[in-house]
Amino acid sequence: MFRSVARSAAGKHLLRRGYATDSVPDRKVAVLGAAGGIGQPLALLMKLNPLVSQLALYDIANTPGVAADVSHINTRSEVAGYVGEEQLGQALEGSDVVIIPAGVPRKPGMTRDDLFNINAGIVKGLCAAIAKYCPNALVNMISNPVNSTVPIAAEVFKKAGTYDERKLFGVTTLDVVRAKTFYAGKAKVPVADVNVPVVGGHAGITILPLFSQATPKANLSEEEITALTKRTQDGGTEVVEAKAGKGSATLSMAYAGAIFADACLKGLNGVPDVVECSFVQSTVTELPFFASKVKLGKNGVEEVLGLGPLSDYEKQGLESLKPELKASIEKGIKFANQS
Ligand SMILES: NC(=O)c1ccc[n+]([C@@H]2O[C@H](COP(=O)([O-])OP(=O)(O)OC[C@H]3O[C@@H](n4cnc5c(N)ncnc54)[C@H](O)[C@@H]3O)[C@@H](O)[C@H]2O)c1
Repeated sequence: MFRSVARSAAGKHLLRRGYATDSVPDRKVAVLGAAGGIGQPLALLMKLNPLVSQLALYDIANTPGVAADVSHINTRSEVAGYVGEEQLGQALEGSDVVIIPAGVPRKPGMTRDDLFNINAGIVKGLCAAIAKYCPNALVNMISNPVNSTVPIAAEVFKKAGTYDERKLFGVTTLDVVRAKTFYAGKAKVPVADVNVPVVGGHAGITILPLFSQATPKANLSEEEITALTKRTQDGGTEVVEAKAGKGSATLSMAYAGAIFADACLKGLNGVPDVVECSFVQSTVTELPFFASKVKLGKNGVEEVLGLGPLSDYEKQGLESLKPELKASIEKGIKFANQS
């Protein structure tokens, strides 16, 4: 995924093995919450990405160690660790992409909404700093509940006068990663070939995988589709329970976060036809934010793509998720404007 494919004059695909810095623009990526369960493997994966020239690792504690460790890897980017609020500005300055996995994860029995109060405050503070130090950066929001933290970020940016709806993304890639894995297992098709759009939001029933559009096609029964849908929606809980009090998905999330950041960087660099699902400002439904396929370009979102044809089961799922998603969006907006 991190090898860029260049086309030769003869039209053949060439794999660029070295880091031809002359042809790859400099890009700074900041990870906020870089010493955490997601932050550390995400820092590692971003260090492996040849599109990154500068990697800023920020947390309220422990980043010097993470940065020293990751910095020894012999890839293109220069790594710097920043710790504590007084170094946040430096970490952010000049960033092209800011990835936010800062916050607390779920424990068994907690919903993503239970995290709201702690994470909402953290995200609000970090977004105020982004508005000040790198207002043009693409923001990849991982901190949960994404259904609320993205609207919070939008409100903070609006107040600061820096909001650009093309540059704010809720990272829902893990839902897509899970849907692909689970579908491939059930449909007995090679997982690397699988595509499944996942729309809606990023919590419980608001996660709506569109298995009717999955490729390669497979003749799955209604029961199998229902089971796959439920497993995708409960994927986070499956990990939280298996970790039994020791956190939520970190490794698969870091992978998903790295895939999405890579897509953002490719879009910024002018690579055509980069499409990923993301929770963004949207007119696809009547809700102001919604996850769907998004085309990424030089300024972030180039086009929010529609839902495509839905099965009756998916149409029903779409209607049932709307009230919950609407409430989570409104909760975020209210929080941002009250506190
Ligand atoms: N979008 C998704 O699909 C998805 C998936 C899994 C987890 N998550 C969310 O990601 C977040 C992080 O999860 P984790 O497992 O890495 O948690 P973690 O507790 O292991 O790490 C969180 C890190 O954030 C740091 N932090 C706290 N306040 C901060 C601040 N103000 N500024 C910078 N850093 C700060 C902590 O010091 C810690 O290192 C949680 O909100 C979790 O729910 C999202």
